[in-house]
Amino acid sequence: MTIDEKTAFHKTSPESDIAEILISGEEIQKRVTEIAAQIDEYYANSPNNLILLGILKGSVVFLSDLMKKIKSPVEIDFMKVSSYHSGTVSSGTVTIMLDIRRQDFNKCDILIIEDIIDSGRTLSYLTNYLKLKGAASVHTCTLLDKPSRREVDFTPDFCGFEIPDKFVVGYGLDYNEKYRALPYVGVLRDELYKN
Ligand code: IMP
Ligand code: MG
Repeated sequence: MTIDEKTAFHKTSPESDIAEILISGEEIQKRVTEIAAQIDEYYANSPNNLILLGILKGSVVFLSDLMKKIKSPVEIDFMKVSSYHSGTVSSGTVTIMLDIRRQDFNKCDILIIEDIIDSGRTLSYLTNYLKLKGAASVHTCTLLDKPSRREVDFTPDFCGFEIPDKFVVGYGLDYNEKYRALPYVGVLRDELYKN
């Protein structure tokens, strides 16, 4: 076996691990355009700076498409939090791994951008945290919502799609850091994460 053949053997296509495409790339783009218009309308009369606060790493694909479609001027910033220690099991606690540092919180409308809301713990914690920092306003925007999994009462202000209780990957979402680059949201094959 040549080196090229060995590499190809270990790099099987991520598509083959997807049981079902839940939301196509085209559907996502259409919905992102609609959400961008809702965001423009919502903040139209605010005198503050609009900050899109991406939660690393899952939100980066959604954030980069969304920011191009929002017509109002925006700034971007990032935080990294960890609520999942590995795989698909939630640890229940939120730890800040990378914080946002600004002097001008009182002049900022912060819109937290997330890939998915599941138990609700991450967005609920971050909303309180940023309000305590003195932000002029704090709202939330998530591409996906699994309402049936909620453990704390939380409703996102802007949401792309409500989905059933299935573990999904693609369009930024991962399983152990894989599948983020898929252009659609797909259901991961059960046998890849369930024992
Ligand atoms: P929450 O604090 O339980 O709402 O967790 C939200 C976080 O859990 C998301 O930012 C994701 O990182 C992760 N998560 C929840 N469900 C999924 C999924 O189906 N696929 C990939 N990541 C998920
Ligand atoms: Mg996440």
